[in-house]
Amino acid sequence: SHGRKFFVGGNWKMNGDKKSLGELINTMNAGKVNADTEVVCGAPSIYIDFARQKLDSKFAVAAQNCYKVPSGAFTGEISPAMIKDCGATWVILGHSERRHIFGESDELIGQKVAHALSEGIGVIGCIGEKLDHREAGITEKVVNEQTKAIADNVKDWSKVVLAYEPVWAIGTGKSATPQQAQEVHIKLRDWLKTHVSEEVAKSVRIIYGGSVTGATCKELASQPDIDGFLVGGASMKKEFIDIINAKQ
Ligand code: G3P
Repeated sequence: SHGRKFFVGGNWKMNGDKKSLGELINTMNAGKVNADTEVVCGAPSIYIDFARQKLDSKFAVAAQNCYKVPSGAFTGEISPAMIKDCGATWVILGHSERRHIFGESDELIGQKVAHALSEGIGVIGCIGEKLDHREAGITEKVVNEQTKAIADNVKDWSKVVLAYEPVWAIGTGKSATPQQAQEVHIKLRDWLKTHVSEEVAKSVRIIYGGSVTGATCKELASQPDIDGFLVGGASMKKEFIDIINAKQ
């Protein structure tokens, strides 16, 4: 996989409290993690500081969202500067739940990507089609458009990971098959080759998300263009360690 370092993100979404997250963190800290794998935990914003203080330094911390400017009168929002100040180094942007529950547009997501990168925060940029898109045969078109809105705002691709998360696979227990995911990942790499550069197409990590479990992670990880995972539910269970070590 062209020397791309395996990347596994956990997305805790709006789950947990200090007690349960503290226990999860203790389990993770005790787990053996493949040194060739980059691991990032996406904490609720109010627990970023807590997670950073408790997690072993072998784990990075991500925010699950941020706003597009450094500070100001934006009640309820957090900035990349605040994320950095709390010791987190990544932000998840464009997650399906932000797009579809909170109505975030490609344009807003692009602005957030640009600002987060300008502040030195790594971006896990999420894309993915809905079931009706897939059934209508427009998966490629949908994910390419979402990717373009992100790509137009990236100069330094070394700080970007693309997460392909088909909406129909998120939290449903119905993961994309390894073949379905691989097919989209390779098309995304083709798109990057044509619209960005051959070098970026080869080097950028494209990770898969959507009902990844300890049972499904190995076969998914064996696909040539799947460079890791973004994990929801299973990132809060012991099996997350198995998922981190899926690529052996
Ligand atoms: O961001 C990860 C996520 O959306 C996938 O969630 O619970 O299907 O692993 P889950």
